[in-house]
Amino acid sequence: MTHAVIMAGGRGERFWPKSRQCLPKQFLKLIGDQTMLQRTVSRMERFLAPENIYIITAASHQQIVRHQVPEIPEGNIILEPCGRDTAAAIGLAAVIVQQKDAAGVMVVLPADHYIADEDRFLEVLRGAVDAAEENHTVTIGITANRPETGFGYIARGQYYQNFAGIPSYHVKRFTEKPDRQQAVGFLESGNYFWNSGIFVWRADVIRHLIGEHLPSLAEGLEKIEEVAGTTRYPQVLQEVYVRLPRISIDYGVMEKAREVLVIPGDFGWDDVGSWTALESYKEKDINGNIMEGRGVLVDTTNTLVQNSDKMVATLGVHDLIVVESEGSILICHKQKAQELKKVITALQENG
Ligand code: GDD
Ligand code: MG
Repeated sequence: MTHAVIMAGGRGERFWPKSRQCLPKQFLKLIGDQTMLQRTVSRMERFLAPENIYIITAASHQQIVRHQVPEIPEGNIILEPCGRDTAAAIGLAAVIVQQKDAAGVMVVLPADHYIADEDRFLEVLRGAVDAAEENHTVTIGITANRPETGFGYIARGQYYQNFAGIPSYHVKRFTEKPDRQQAVGFLESGNYFWNSGIFVWRADVIRHLIGEHLPSLAEGLEKIEEVAGTTRYPQVLQEVYVRLPRISIDYGVMEKAREVLVIPGDFGWDDVGSWTALESYKEKDINGNIMEGRGVLVDTTNTLVQNSDKMVATLGVHDLIVVESEGSILICHKQKAQELKKVITALQENG
């Protein structure tokens, strides 16, 4: 059987002030009229029944997940007592999936990405699932086209074979978040994919890889597994989870794993990583402005305004992001949109 595990544990820093710790990006309507999580679930519902779709998220987000995707059975919402990054989240999800289906295939995917061609996405996924059924560890790669340092890079090796008509390649090397110089080098050499963050593997296969590369995580997961499905589960989870190593699956497993396949994901992908990433999905006026809310833009160009409550007026400014939400206002130069974390840090220190 195949299962989807949707990772919805993001912290909500990139879309401040609209996103908050209590309402991170995956729960926002950034593109279209569904939230990122709702869109991700609907996409997977074309592939799997709701009983086979799991969402892993922070315990504090349980209510919002239930509210946004009520069709997902309550038992499929896996709650983390605290954030331990994606290796722990995926490991815990594997333990839960294995309760039902010890060698089931898991499609692991982020809750907050944009996919343009959903039909093609499902075709590619079909191929990846077929490969995973044959014990392969599969990642979906996106052809890299700029030296982005926030992604994992996959060096494409030899062609392996087609699965359900979809080609797969050996992975020569996986490099998580290279520095700028390395990223430029990768791009120049060609043959590099970005890691989309979508992985497909059997639950027992990823457990085995965690055992090999992250033994302390594997040990914690075994303790949780012993009590899974019993009344002791919540307490043991609480005790064990905080002590699990905090590391992403990319650094913890993917960089070290030897036999990985990459399947090119040519379906139009965007991780929607900043306010400026939204621009290509919205309509601009003749001055290149995007106005979502109430206000006036005078002698203003190339500016994005989003406001919910207060009226916004701009005069003689260009290339800005202006966002008003719940009593906070962001005024940010577009060139700095990637550095929004600096604001979050400053707010934590002084706010
Ligand atoms: N449940 C849960 N718990 N989810 C989490 C946690 C956690 O502790 N930490 C992160 N996530 C979710 C995020 O919400 C996101 O959907 C996904 O897992 C990936 O985490 P990010 O924190 O966004 O990772 P990243 O963007 O730095 O890097 C990853 O994604 C890139 C593509 O967007 C890596 O996989 C890179 O290799 C990849 O290129
Ligand atoms: Mg991300």
